[in-house]
Amino acid sequence: MKCNLLSLAALSPAAVWASCVPAPDHSCRLSKPELSCSSAAQPALVDSCCVETFGGLVLSTQFWDTYTGLESAGQLLPKNSFTLHGLWPDFCNGSFTQYCDLSRQYDPHPSPNTTTGTASGTPVPPYHGPTVDTFLAPFGATGAALLRWMNKFWIAQNQPNTELWAHEFSKHATCFSTFSESCFSKFQLQKHTDLLEFFTVTAEYFKRLPTYDWLAAKGITPSNTTSYSLSDIQGALAARHGGVPFIGCSGPKYNETAAGKGSKDAGRTALTEVWYYHHVFGPVQAGKATPVGADINGGSTSTCAKADKAVWYYERSKGSEK
Ligand SMILES: *[C@@H]1O[C@H](CO)[C@@H](O)[C@H](O)[C@H]1NC(C)=O
Ligand SMILES: *[C@@H]1O[C@H](CO)[C@@H](O)[C@H](O)[C@H]1NC(C)=O
Ligand SMILES: *[C@@H]1O[C@H](CO)[C@@H](O)[C@H](O)[C@H]1NC(C)=O
Ligand SMILES: *[C@@H]1O[C@H](CO)[C@@H](O)[C@H](O)[C@H]1NC(C)=O
Repeated sequence: MKCNLLSLAALSPAAVWASCVPAPDHSCRLSKPELSCSSAAQPALVDSCCVETFGGLVLSTQFWDTYTGLESAGQLLPKNSFTLHGLWPDFCNGSFTQYCDLSRQYDPHPSPNTTTGTASGTPVPPYHGPTVDTFLAPFGATGAALLRWMNKFWIAQNQPNTELWAHEFSKHATCFSTFSESCFSKFQLQKHTDLLEFFTVTAEYFKRLPTYDWLAAKGITPSNTTSYSLSDIQGALAARHGGVPFIGCSGPKYNETAAGKGSKDAGRTALTEVWYYHHVFGPVQAGKATPVGADINGGSTSTCAKADKAVWYYERSKGSEK
């Protein structure tokens, strides 16, 4: 079957993986798959190109934005869908690091600007070369189909999409053991296969997590007149995913709004992000993900206000959607 990311949307996730996602060509066929974060998933015991041994807690993250800021340039949001943020390798204990391979630094605005986010970390130099979409051109129809999908669903706010993609690759992809440069170079694969593979796999994880549809099925749709309770949003998504996702809010604190006056609830009130957590069996590329809760390490599962009906899931601005 020919891989066309958009026309395959109706197929089962397994069919999409089988036809679209390149089998990691650092052939993992002969290695024993293990579950990330299990005691067997150690660099000394497995091939780290075939089992995630660095960032075994894999987060598939999404945005709910109401505008892009670049509407006049044609950068619009997809109707009836959240947008893709990224695929992140957190450590099994929930902490993380970033910009793990500065030889693959394509981010024009590194954030943070050192590997640790503190002055003592290694500086991450801004990138000034060609935008990362140009790296996909040598992959012909496959690269072009991927790019079309990315321009529809992987949308940045207040910066061109290509800068978000570069940021996600250089900050996060470089920290997965299964996307390590050596996994590709030792098989002498075409330059930027790592990028093609990471973008494709990130898209496939996103497609299995249709947040908009899962909320809509529970009657939770964008509204500028009706607000929702965090517990209803989080509950609806946890039931479909199989683990409690992290729900991110921005905007004013509840007790700084008229509705929350006098309350002790200082959570934020505008829904902006959903992060789904997983452990993965074998290479991240194979998509054999087990959902886990965002509280797996006892961490917080939201920045939103918990009060009844305190969260706004805003409609997009007029002219911001396509
Ligand atoms: C979490 O795990 C990482 C990787 O093993 C380690 O470097 C870090 O020190 C750990 N952090 C905490 C708070 O335990
Ligand atoms: C990183 O950003 C901070 C704050 O803007 C600045 O003070 C610092 O010099 C920058 N460090 C590097 C390595 O660019
Ligand atoms: C909001 O709640 C926080 C935490 O309970 C409290 O510290 C803060 O003073 C409150 N702010 C207002 C404006 O009531
Ligand atoms: C809904 O409200 C948000 C947040 O205030 C705003 O950005 C957006 O433009 C509004 N959408 C419509 C259709 O009024």
